[in-house]
Amino acid sequence: MRIPGTRQTIDQGDLDAVTCALQRDLLTTGPGVAEFESAFAQATGARFAVALNSGTSALHAAVCAAGIGESSGGSAEDEVIVPAISFVATANAVLYQNAKPVFADVESNTLRIDPADVRRKITSRTKAILAMDYAGQPCDYAALQEIADQHGVLLLADACHSLGGKVSANHSTKKVGSLADVSCFSLHPAKQITSCEGGVATTNDESLAARMKAFRNHGISTDHRAREKRITHQYAMESLGYNYRLSDVQSALGLSQLHRLEKFTARRQHLAGLYDSLLGECDFVAPLESDAADGHARHLYVVKWKPEIAGCSRDQAFTAMRKSGIGVNVHYQPIFEQPYYQRLIVKGAIEAARCPTARQVYSQILSLPIFPTMTQAEVHDVVSSLKSVAATWRRKTEVAA
Ligand SMILES: Cc1ncc(COP(=O)(O)O)c(C=O)c1O
Repeated sequence: MRIPGTRQTIDQGDLDAVTCALQRDLLTTGPGVAEFESAFAQATGARFAVALNSGTSALHAAVCAAGIGESSGGSAEDEVIVPAISFVATANAVLYQNAKPVFADVESNTLRIDPADVRRKITSRTKAILAMDYAGQPCDYAALQEIADQHGVLLLADACHSLGGKVSANHSTKKVGSLADVSCFSLHPAKQITSCEGGVATTNDESLAARMKAFRNHGISTDHRAREKRITHQYAMESLGYNYRLSDVQSALGLSQLHRLEKFTARRQHLAGLYDSLLGECDFVAPLESDAADGHARHLYVVKWKPEIAGCSRDQAFTAMRKSGIGVNVHYQPIFEQPYYQRLIVKGAIEAARCPTARQVYSQILSLPIFPTMTQAEVHDVVSSLKSVAATWRRKTEVAA
C-alpha cells in the first residue's frame, strides 16, 4: 500500500526497552508486568489494570469476572447486550462463556451502541451491557450507566479503539478506562499503542481485578513469585482459567509506548481535524459525527459514502482506492451477519437481531487511513484520490445517461 490504513510507531526507546527486558532474569510473570499495569492504571484513571495477552482475552476475562455463564457462577440463559457493529471479538467473548449476546442497534451518526435500543432489548436475563467505543469515541456512558443501574446489571466497555479518549461533563473529566465497571483494551499493532499482541482490563473494583488476574493464570490465585516469597510450592486452582498472560518483554514495549500515548492521540486528532476540513467540500461523503473533538481517540476516521452523489457504491469506491494503493477499510459488517452467528440464529441458540440502522450503514461506511506518522501530504493525497474516484464514476454515469 502506498498509504497503509494503519501503522505502528516504533522508536529507539521502544527497541531499548525490549532489549533491556530480554536481558532480565524473568521474561514472563516478572516485575515488568506489574510496572506496566500500574502505569496503565494511572494513565486511564482506574484503580487496577490487569495485563493480558490480547484485547480478546481482556474481554473474555471481563465477561467471566462479571459472573456471566454457568462456568463462572451464572446461568446458561445469561444475556449480554452488545453492539451490532463491532469486531467479532466483542460478541465472541459472551459466547466463550456459553452465554447469549443480544445485539443492540447503533446510532446512525456515530455508530456507537444506541442507548435507546439497549433499553428496548434489556430483559430480566440481561447480566451486563458491553458497549464499544466505535472509532475511538467514548459511548454515552451516562445514559448506559443509568440503564445499567436501573436494571442492576454491570456496564462493561470494549475500549479497544479508545485508549487516550475522555469524557468531560459538569467541569470534570474522566478518562476511558474509568467509565465502566470493566474496560478492555487491545495492544494490537493497529491500536493506539502496541505490545505486538496484548490487552489490558481496567477496573476500580478490587474483587473484579483479582478474578481477572486469576483467570489469566489458569484460575490460580497466586503466581510463582508470591509462592517464592511464602516459601511454598503449593497453589490452589479455585476456578477455571486460561493462560492469557502478557510477557515482561511485551509489557516493556507497552510501557515504552504508553509514555507517548498523549503525543499519538494529539497527532491522530490533528489528522482527523485536517480530514474534517478537507472533506467539508466533498458532497459525496459525510464524516461520522463526534461529541467533543478532544475526547475522541481517533483510532479510525470513518466516512459514510453517498452512492447517489458519488455515482458508485461504497464497494466500488473501496476497490478503486485499494487499486490506487490507499489502505481504506470497512469497520465492520454487523456481527450477526457473520455465517457462524447466522447458524446460531437459525438453530435458535441466540435471537435474531433487529438492528435496521446497522444493516443500512454497513453498505455506506469507509475507513480512511489514520496513524500517528501519517503526514499532512498523505491526508491530502487520500482526499484527492477520493475526489478523483467520485469524479470518474460521475463521468461514467453521465455518459451512460
Ligand atoms: C473493537 C475491538 N474489540 C476487540 C478487539 C480484539 O483485540 P485483539 O486483537 O487484541 O484480541 C479488537 C481488535 O481488533 C477490536 O477492534
